[in-house]
Parts: sequence; C-alpha cells; structure tokens
Amino acid sequence: MAKVKTKSAFFCSSCGNEFPKWQGQCNFCKEWNTLVEETVVTGKATKASSVPQWVKSTDSSVQNKPKQIKDIEMNSERRIQLNDFEMNRVLGGGLVSGAMVLFGGEPGIGKSTLMLQLALNNPELSTLYVSGEESEKQIKLRADRIGNTSDNCLIYTEIDTQRILKQANKVKPHILIIDSIQTLQSPLIDAMPGSISQVKECTSEMMRFAKETGTIVVLIGHLTKDGSIAGPKVLEHMVDVVLNFEGDNRYVYRILRTQKNRFGSTNEIGIYEMNTVGLEPVSNPSNLLLNKMASELSGSAIASAVEGARPLLIEVQALVSSAVYGTPQRSATGFDSRRLNMLLAVLEKRCGFRLGAKDVFLNLTGGIKMDDPSMDLAVVAAILSSNEDAPLTNKIAFCGEIGLNGEIRPSRRVDQRIMEAEKLGLEQIFLSSYNKIENPEQYGLNIVKVSSVLELYHALF
Ligand code: TYD
Ligand code: MG
Repeated sequence: MAKVKTKSAFFCSSCGNEFPKWQGQCNFCKEWNTLVEETVVTGKATKASSVPQWVKSTDSSVQNKPKQIKDIEMNSERRIQLNDFEMNRVLGGGLVSGAMVLFGGEPGIGKSTLMLQLALNNPELSTLYVSGEESEKQIKLRADRIGNTSDNCLIYTEIDTQRILKQANKVKPHILIIDSIQTLQSPLIDAMPGSISQVKECTSEMMRFAKETGTIVVLIGHLTKDGSIAGPKVLEHMVDVVLNFEGDNRYVYRILRTQKNRFGSTNEIGIYEMNTVGLEPVSNPSNLLLNKMASELSGSAIASAVEGARPLLIEVQALVSSAVYGTPQRSATGFDSRRLNMLLAVLEKRCGFRLGAKDVFLNLTGGIKMDDPSMDLAVVAAILSSNEDAPLTNKIAFCGEIGLNGEIRPSRRVDQRIMEAEKLGLEQIFLSSYNKIENPEQYGLNIVKVSSVLELYHALF
C-alpha cells in the first residue's frame, strides 16, 4: 500500500490552483488575497484516484473511447422535456443527457424544493435525489407539501462520493441530484467538505460519471456573500450549465436565470411563485406584478422592462417627501441605488427640480430585482408623480434609458415591450424618440415619443 503522507497546500479560492507556499497574488488568475491553506493527503489519493471504486463495477461498454466526428451519434444529445415550462425555457428546451448542471442560490430561496419538485413532477424520469444536508424525514415532509409522488424517485442521504456513485451506477437514474456539492466528501482526498480541494474533487468525480454514463447530474451549490457560488470559480468552467435562483426571501417571487448554458442561450428567465405547495411556475408575470396597482395614488408608474429575452411589466413606486433629518435619505428596493442617485442628480441639474432636500424612496413590486436600464423612464415618472402629487393613470407604460444630459436613449426589443403592454390592456406607452418603430398603427395603443426628461414632464403634467 502506498505510504499516506499529509501535507498542507494553498489553494486559490478564485481559480482553484494549488501552490506549495502562501503568496499574496495568484499566479494564474492574478487575484489578490485569495489563497487559503488546506490539508491534502498524498499517496492515498494518487493510488485511489487512478481507479475510482465505482468504475470497478462498471461493465466495459460504458468506458469511453476516442471517436471520429462522423461516428458520434446525434441522438446522444437528446433533450429531455420536463413538466415545467419555465425550467424548459430557461434550459433552452429541456435537459440534455450527460449534462452537468450547477444550480446555485442563497439559503432558503427554494433550491431543494425546486429540485425535489423536478424529481416528483416528472414520474417518467427516474431520479436519484442525494441529500447531504437533510434527513429522510425532512425530505418526506417537503415532498408532502409538494403533494406529488413518483415511484421513480429514490432518496438517498449520503455524503461519500464513492458510495453515491456506486448507488447511482446500480440505480442508473436519468437524473442524479446532489444537494449540495459543499456537503460532499470524497474518500480519495483528505480535506474538509466544502473546502476548495474537496469541492473540486467531488465535482470532477461527478463530472466523470455524467460524461461516461450519460446521466444528467444536477449539483446544488450555495452562494457566498458576494453572490458567487461557493467554491472555486473553476467549478463554473467545468460544468455545462450554471443556473441561479434569485429573489428576496421575504417575497414570494423567484427568478431562475442561466449564467452559462452550453446547450442554449443565456437570455431566458423563469419566474416562480413560492406558495404552500412548493414553487409554482408563473406564465404571465406581468399580470401578477400589476394587479395590485392603485390607480388613484401618486408615485406609481408602470415600467415595460425586458429581463433576459422576456418582456415584463412591473410597477415602480416612489415616495418623495421633505427630509426630516439634515441629510436626505435615498433608498431603493429592487433597483440599483447608485442609479437612483444618478437619476435624481439629472432631475436636479438638467431639469431644475429641487429634490436635494427631499427623501426619496423607491420600490419595485414583488421584491423582484431588475437591472434593465430602460427602467429609468418609469422610475423618473414615478418620482415626478410623487413630487407633484399628481397620480398617473394605470394605463401608461414607460420604457427608456436616461443619459446624464437628461436625454432619453432608445431601448432594445422595443416591439416586444409594446406588445406586452398592449396585451395587458394598457393604452399608452412612452418611448425614446430615437426608437424606430415600423408602422406604429399595427399596435392597439398610443405610442408617445419623448427625447428628454423635461419633455416627459410636460407631456405628463
Ligand atoms: P428550500 O428549498 O429548503 O431552500 P434551499 O434549499 O434553497 O435552502 O426552501 C426553504 C423555504 O421555502 C422555507 O423557508 C419554506 C419555504 N417553502 C414554502 O414556502 N412552501 C413550500 O411548499 C415549501 C416546500 C417550502
Ligand atoms: Mg436546501
């Protein structure tokens, strides 16, 4: 038996490269202060990793061989449609066999719920749901809430990768779900679960299994404080698809986004609502985000935004009031607060509105975060409406980006925005005058073009 030696090494938490000594900057990714110390066991690792235990029990047919392009069967890239149209859309038409998916999100956002739902709502697909975080009873409780059952879903609570892969090899599921990659431990290396070297090793073992058996492997990953998936960045390079689940814990809406997709575009988003029976796909989010709009109150405006490739109408609320304290407060929920400050400065400097001594609060409905720059026009309309205390009717939509000179810049996908507003029964839409619209008569709503913030103000009040 090889002699087992323990040593410590330094790993870059950004790119995952290993160094024998600590240094301030990583030679590979040039990031500063990213090196962390971890213990690694040599000898045992080299011997064991050359022949992983699960491979021993595999028949030779699953062993991969070099092939010519013409010999590659196309049907091996088969897409598996799920009973969840939002997920299908985000994945670009379903899951591809052999795909490695990394599914990240903050704690409590609903990652385990969505993945258990995927297992239970698709009874025609066999799934192995491996949990290293929760007990079988906890998973059963969650499954009871979801309500669906599937005879094809197996639950396995385990953290040892070799045991997991042995079982997966026996069960041969279509989809292997790992909840979560940070809890897994490979017996082939001696490092704490969740450490960089361990996460890297476990991912590559899962990767090997996915590619050699054609199983879809979904790895659930935790997010760090800065919003990236815990573990080395190299993880995101290794996998085929990176999905992020976002939203505010205190609200019910969640957004599923693709950060990377080797099988489709990264433009699509999926919207879910967390309710008492799990996560429900929302097919028409604009309806939900507009319903509660009070027409007779000032400070509300409807933005016609595009998230990814999807048009979305969302209500923006602003409250402008005289500052109680010396320094006025500015706060924004769901909207970048630096952008809000920029818009307020434009209103002050270019249009002469005295907002410097006012508190300004801004809120997007449903706790949804938007970063479409064309939200600007609705934000400014809501601020002006609150400042003037003059309500806007709830039949007007706004879209346009505002520049530092107070000019209104054109938006992308403007036809989609107009159609979405029309579909929801709005009567008017304000756009940048730089947006070219081919035959505006085809739309059943009034298109108003404005070129500056001042022009918007005069058109509204
Ligand atoms: P969970 O899937 O455990 O989140 P994660 O795995 O991302 O940490 O979801 C946890 C939250 O979801 C929890 O606070 C309760 C809530 N929840 C519901 O509101 N309804 C439901 O039907 C379920 C299953 C969970
Ligand atoms: Mg969980």
